[in-house]
Amino acid sequence: MKKPLIDLASGPQRFTLGNWNTRASVRTSEQCYSLPSDIEKQLETRHWFPPAFLPYLNHPVIKSADRALSHRLSANHLVYFLDYTTLLEHRIVNRSVEIIAHNELGISIPRTMKTSALQLYTDEGYHALFSNSLAEQIAELYGMTDRPVMPQRIVQLNALLSHTPDKHKALAWFMIGFVSETIIAKELLAVCRDVLVSSVQAMLRDHLADEARHSRYFSEVFHYVWLHLNSDQRAFAARVVLETLLIFFEVDEQWLRESLNSVRLDETTIAQILFDLVGPHACLLRARSGADATLKALKKARFFDLPANRQLFSMAGLVDG
Ligand SMILES: [Fe+2]
Ligand SMILES: [Fe+2]
Repeated sequence: MKKPLIDLASGPQRFTLGNWNTRASVRTSEQCYSLPSDIEKQLETRHWFPPAFLPYLNHPVIKSADRALSHRLSANHLVYFLDYTTLLEHRIVNRSVEIIAHNELGISIPRTMKTSALQLYTDEGYHALFSNSLAEQIAELYGMTDRPVMPQRIVQLNALLSHTPDKHKALAWFMIGFVSETIIAKELLAVCRDVLVSSVQAMLRDHLADEARHSRYFSEVFHYVWLHLNSDQRAFAARVVLETLLIFFEVDEQWLRESLNSVRLDETTIAQILFDLVGPHACLLRARSGADATLKALKKARFFDLPANRQLFSMAGLVDG
């Protein structure tokens, strides 16, 4: 008997990016992400980056200064964020996606999972392209010459990978991709809520639409991979997931200090700003509120059924004991 083209009995297909051909930004967007010609007018009411993400803009010294100072700090932050995104997509997430597409974990990869990995790889290449394009335009507008910087987060992820034994290398890459891809959608959703410069807003919206699909996909793939790991691999994976989560919620202190210095803030103001943002407690609070999609995926895969994992995450303060 001939096999049906679509097996309706198996229900919705797993491991897909849901109508990628008609939904993905790289296939559908007509944007070219150019800065608007009325940029000065837009900046009377709009922002480069959501102020809610930059709590230091509320510092009395910055609040009482000319609005141009806040715009410059926000532009610094946006360019840093876009340059970071470009690196993250190419050097971290897509390396992680290669692990799935080329079956480097040594477990059987379903055909839909592989196809979606190749689509996701394409998405991330496009995200890197439009992030870099906007970063270049904003840097040119402000005459920024000190970019791109190497973000602390990328340095720390690379250090984690370089300390990983060869036998677990592919697994570490996959887990870092899983954490990154389940965090970014919420981050972008929050970023998109504010009224931003039009092309920045359009770019972030396109990125968010793709990342919502990526987050679902990586959660499903994590579940599948987790079921195929032995106990040694699971113990290793749990530690990498935790370490990666904490890395993702640290503030890049060195870069922030340089950004604040670039607008000639005094040393006392800079120290006050950094004191509130840097440190393990502040990092943990951000992780607890920002990592819910990752934690949800872990729960769904019954990751916390292992008492050692529950203990590891509750000792780190990420879940209640
Ligand atoms: Fe992306
Ligand atoms: Fe993604």
